[in-house]
Amino acid sequence: MDLPFAGAISAYYLNEAPESLRNAIRRAEKGDILAGSYPYSERMPRKAYETQYKALQIELVKMQAWAKDTGARVVCLFEGRDAAGKGGTIKRFRENLNPRGARVVALPAPSDTEAGQWYFQRYTAHLPGRGELTFYDRSWYNRGVVEPVFGFCTREQRETFFSQVPRFEKMLVEDGIHLFKFWLNLGRAEQLRRFLAREQDPLKQWKLSRIDVDGLPLWGAYSDAIAETLTRSHTAEAPWTVIRADDKRRARLEAIRRVLHALPYTAKDEKALGPLDHQIGGGPEIWD
Ligand code: ADP
Ligand code: MLT
Repeated sequence: MDLPFAGAISAYYLNEAPESLRNAIRRAEKGDILAGSYPYSERMPRKAYETQYKALQIELVKMQAWAKDTGARVVCLFEGRDAAGKGGTIKRFRENLNPRGARVVALPAPSDTEAGQWYFQRYTAHLPGRGELTFYDRSWYNRGVVEPVFGFCTREQRETFFSQVPRFEKMLVEDGIHLFKFWLNLGRAEQLRRFLAREQDPLKQWKLSRIDVDGLPLWGAYSDAIAETLTRSHTAEAPWTVIRADDKRRARLEAIRRVLHALPYTAKDEKALGPLDHQIGGGPEIWD
């Protein structure tokens, strides 16, 4: 099989990555959490994770039953840098749900026809109906971050986006949709470590794209675009929840917990849910 980016990540690691980044990755091989700002010194042990995960899965099933009974509509959108764990988190939300009522929307780059439409149009086509949950793996926030970083939109299009997005989301919420916006925050070293692992793993190579490779030296441009996006689209009606995602296990549990805490589903078991972890999840102020 011809791999379009074979070796591109390791070439960056070996030849271009700053020395501090390489050192952080070496430490990671010994099991360290990478980002300096990460609040725990170790990853979550598997056993504790599995116990909590199982309890949360039962609550998720109850939540879906509630949505079906009451017609509630739920949108969870996931944003974050490449390899932040968006797809993996969504997978854990859906593991024991009826897939018919819990769709994933991961749209490709817009077609020529779509590019001529209202920017939000192709996303609205997938909004949930009665009793449904929709998980967006990337979303309309492409226009806040990826598109400007790669020059896929004009400055003017981005400004229009920022003027429309609060009104767009307000309409969804006013119409009764439960909207969750997650930003998965990932440190630079952990991102590179995950890319290197993907490059080595024949089952994960499909996850690598030209955007990932070309984005490696663009870390700073991404940071600027992310900071601006979080600031300009964090509203009372549709706030962001930032999740520290260097440790996948804690990140998955916290995202699931946030949704379950917020929804008034039937027979909620608060004890099984456990408390929120404000070190792992919070508002835009915890992003870095
Ligand atoms: P992912 O990380 O979601 O697997 P990529 O890293 O390849 O996908 O791309 C990141 C995002 O950039 C995707 O949502 C993709 O649709 C978008 N994208 C890629 N090329 C273009 C383009 N030419 N115009 C607009 N968006 C694009
Ligand atoms: C993720 O892992 O965050 C995405 O779902 C996949 C990717 O970024 O390539």
